[in-house]
Amino acid sequence: MEAGTRKGDPAVRDGSARRRRIRRATDAVELLKADHRRLRRLFHRFEQVGAEERPRLVESICQLLTLHMMVEEDMFYPAFLAATADQEFLEEAKKEHEGVRRLISQIEEVGPHDESFAARVRVLAAMTRHHMLEEEKRGGVFAEARDTGMDLGALGTQMKLRKARLRKKLLLLRGPFGFTWASVRP
Ligand SMILES: [Fe+2]
Ligand SMILES: [Fe+2]
Repeated sequence: MEAGTRKGDPAVRDGSARRRRIRRATDAVELLKADHRRLRRLFHRFEQVGAEERPRLVESICQLLTLHMMVEEDMFYPAFLAATADQEFLEEAKKEHEGVRRLISQIEEVGPHDESFAARVRVLAAMTRHHMLEEEKRGGVFAEARDTGMDLGALGTQMKLRKARLRKKLLLLRGPFGFTWASVRP
């Protein structure tokens, strides 16, 4: 056996680590989970920063949430439904997305100087955390998607492209203090 092809050889280890990284970068479930982690970090940060930083932070949260929900509703959920016929989960998920959208729209409407702003963002954090846990839990949509053997690599690649296009489009639609995400549909 040639040196460099043995299992445990650093070059082989690096090669498989690289393949794992590439797989993670295009796997639909991993992409959605990465968004969830980002959202958790942003909501956590909201509690740590002062009032002057909050509008920008909330803008990032609303942008990411809106894009995330669009990609789930337009691509991930339909592919999941085609693979599993699990209509029940998706109906619940869509209701929760609607709740999140309504709240984003209220936050946008009252703006960062209203006294209810922080409280509304905290409600948004709680709703979003609950919904993300539902998707991530054992037997949830992510686990079920893996079990069915959906082509998560191909789906993830399409989702990445769509998200990049949507982001560009949404950036052109900024509102009074930065965001108008709630009312936007592609
Ligand atoms: Fe969702
Ligand atoms: Fe999600």
